[in-house]
Amino acid sequence: MVNIQSRNLTSLNGKWRVILDPTGNGDSKQVWQEKQPQNKTDFVEYSFEGGPELQVPGDFNSQMCELTWFEGTVWYKKAFDYKVQEAKRVFLYFGAVNYLADVYLNGEKIGSHEGGFTPFQFEITGKVKDGGNSLIVKVDNRRVKNGLPGLGYDWMNYGGITRDVDIVETNKTYIEDYLIQLKKGSLDTVLGSVRLNGTQAGQNIEIQIPELGISYKTGTNDNGLASIGFSSTFDLWSPESPKLYKVIIKSETDSVTDNIGFRSIEVQENKVLLNKKPIFLKAVNIHEENPYKRARAYSLDDDKLLLNSAKELGCNLVRLAHYPHNENMVKEAEKMGLMVWSEIPVYQHIEFADSVVPRKMENMLQEMIRRDKNRCGVVIWNLSNETYPSTPNRTDALVALTQTCRELDSTRLISHVINTQGYQNNTVDVWNPLYKYSDLVAINEYIGWYLPWQGKPSETKWKLVYPDKPVFVSEFGGEAKYGSNDGPNDVAAYWAEGYQENIYKDQIEMFNTIPNLCGVCPWLLFDYRSLGRMNQMYQNGYNRKGLLSENGEKKKAWYIMNEYYKKK
Ligand code: GCU
Repeated sequence: MVNIQSRNLTSLNGKWRVILDPTGNGDSKQVWQEKQPQNKTDFVEYSFEGGPELQVPGDFNSQMCELTWFEGTVWYKKAFDYKVQEAKRVFLYFGAVNYLADVYLNGEKIGSHEGGFTPFQFEITGKVKDGGNSLIVKVDNRRVKNGLPGLGYDWMNYGGITRDVDIVETNKTYIEDYLIQLKKGSLDTVLGSVRLNGTQAGQNIEIQIPELGISYKTGTNDNGLASIGFSSTFDLWSPESPKLYKVIIKSETDSVTDNIGFRSIEVQENKVLLNKKPIFLKAVNIHEENPYKRARAYSLDDDKLLLNSAKELGCNLVRLAHYPHNENMVKEAEKMGLMVWSEIPVYQHIEFADSVVPRKMENMLQEMIRRDKNRCGVVIWNLSNETYPSTPNRTDALVALTQTCRELDSTRLISHVINTQGYQNNTVDVWNPLYKYSDLVAINEYIGWYLPWQGKPSETKWKLVYPDKPVFVSEFGGEAKYGSNDGPNDVAAYWAEGYQENIYKDQIEMFNTIPNLCGVCPWLLFDYRSLGRMNQMYQNGYNRKGLLSENGEKKKAWYIMNEYYKKK
């Protein structure tokens, strides 16, 4: 895998021709061969020519009204010119395709990928031709029972080539990967690695951080791998001062530049420590949707819209729910001083009994970590959300995934989000086998919305199975349609802004009762599209738990949360 950071990219973004294939016939007709009839008696029953075009990157649902609710196959085609250079290797990079992608270059299949939210690439050296080339991608966003997510989820299933497509050129031996982050618990020692790919495995390596006068030299072994370790005095990254340094990674045959920050994140004595100091996580949940465009967010402008609103709310952390968001989102959050909680779509209805599921989870985890492991802004890898019941299949698979995650990256916090806590006699009973393996006790609870209060919020009692771990309320809230008023005599009614506002007031009272509370995270920033939400009066295909409407209007609950964060 090429790390595309700072490389010269040839973008294949723009208009692509498409064939809509709701019947799934394209496979049997072998659309990827692009046969052209040679004479009038040649029968070829498909053609990209004459068909519509779609913008890449972009979800297909928001681009053609025929595709608004579509879950199925769309064939994409891009013709492009290329100049082959003998000394170079060539890769085809996709930022993300939701959900299954089969990729064909000049009539030949070059690979497939499953998973809608992480990057993948194929080497096309020797396959890409001098002159005209044709790239065809079969995209299928149908829900898959043993997929991640599975069949049921509470967000819009935007399909298509939703992120950038690029051609990346490298030298024959190139820097395939690198990790440059502070060692767990240290404020001054960098521990990491550089990996080369290619025949010239043993090379001199240099890491430069010009601003700090650092020029660290090492070398790769016969497998192309070098370990890195050096110390310095860093201006540490924090929400108040999101300092990033220009870092240059050089080998004899390649050079990559990145902007990297240095910070430590740990849990000690029931607290989350950033750079050794306790921090309260003032968070908000965000879906990767531009509410104004009613489309999957992917551009820097989309990302800024979401992140600026989180900042305005007073946040220092964004939970990017429920799948890895686009790379710009993570980078921009880091630049703005927002810590990032990143997660894979192991969400609710996962088919843990199917033996392929653990492998898929691990692939996605690797792809997420691989992309963002040098982003110091990312402080938490979350590995699952609301997986129940606690069957042995589910728990074993997620415990194994946690161990894999710690092996891949031991520097960040790891969590699992649970929503099956007990709630009786005004007592919340927080337990789950997965908490044993998590750094945080992350709880989704919708008291006041899906279930009624059982006493005064300020008198809520807590039973914690792991009283030595910090508690994070990863979701809470309720729905309101912006502008929807309370009932007669000011009695707040379901769906009214006042009702949602009261939930927030009560929740904040309850937060004072939670032992080891290290942060809270409302569900969520903007109202978002979710077709399972069927109250035509108030929802109409939207989950209305936003603090902001889909038009950006602030609901009453926004101000309550904003005040809470100001005081924290
Ligand atoms: C869940 C889930 C969210 C969901 C929310 C809700 O807890 O994690 O994705 O949308 O509840 O009910 O609105």
